[in-house]
Amino acid sequence: MELKNKVILITGASGGIGAAAAQRLAGRGMSIALAGRNIKKLESVAEDCRTLGGVAEIFPGEITDENYTSGLPHAVKERFGGLHALFNNAGVFETGAFDQADISRWDDALDVNFRSLLHLTKAAIPYLLENGESAVINLSSIAGRMTFGGGGIYSATKHAVHAFSGCLFEDLRDRGLKVSTIYPGFVDTGMTSGVAGDRSHMIQPDDVARTLEFVLEFPSNACPTEIVIRPQFPL
Ligand SMILES: NC(=O)c1ccc[n+]([C@@H]2O[C@H](COP(=O)([O-])OP(=O)(O)OC[C@H]3O[C@@H](n4cnc5c(N)ncnc54)[C@H](OP(=O)(O)O)[C@@H]3O)[C@@H](O)[C@H]2O)c1
Repeated sequence: MELKNKVILITGASGGIGAAAAQRLAGRGMSIALAGRNIKKLESVAEDCRTLGGVAEIFPGEITDENYTSGLPHAVKERFGGLHALFNNAGVFETGAFDQADISRWDDALDVNFRSLLHLTKAAIPYLLENGESAVINLSSIAGRMTFGGGGIYSATKHAVHAFSGCLFEDLRDRGLKVSTIYPGFVDTGMTSGVAGDRSHMIQPDDVARTLEFVLEFPSNACPTEIVIRPQFPL
């Protein structure tokens, strides 16, 4: 799609990949709806977006709250006049072996990484389909394509995002809805602050933002449904 004046809702926009995506797309003239919990950080990202030439507003809330997610797409349409794309990016990193797991933390990770994504997507679809072409881009992970010891609930939720995305594409491709999933390895954000290694070798948040831009601008007759991103050099 032509990006200028189109509207995208980005979850997890208060930092990391979500903030980088907001800034990149604001620079292309998109209107950005920023979702997340941390109001101060969201406001700072919104200010950056405006400086870059985009229009941006914050829509703070707890993504596991169904009252919030069910009303969010409507609130975005009220503010911007439409909704063309949804970037399901919010997530938490919960790892560890199952025999030592705090199951309530695993439930929380399931709620943030997968259940909320389902609920928000469901609420957004009627608004997205009002346009001739629209897109849902889901942030999975390389952990959504492989399993590893200690991968815990994180890998399972990201596999769930992978499976859901493929099915959603099949369900709505004939209505012009692109569904694309991005599977990055380690990205240099707060989420990986505990990961050892050379951070300059990690994928940078703007690398993922560029991938999102690529998907949004892809010709309307085709959809890059799955994109894996790996660091070029080992950490
Ligand atoms: N970093 C990596 O290596 C990597 C690799 C592959 C995939 N990913 C995925 O990329 C996505 C973005 O992660 P990131 O690396 O940018 O990490 P991040 O900087 O920690 O960002 C996570 C975002 O999710 C939001 N969030 C978390 N829990 C939430 C909740 N309950 N309600 C509302 N928002 C919530 C946070 O917003 P608030 O703090 O404002 O609530 C924050 O903006 C995640 O889905 C992650 O799994 C990351």
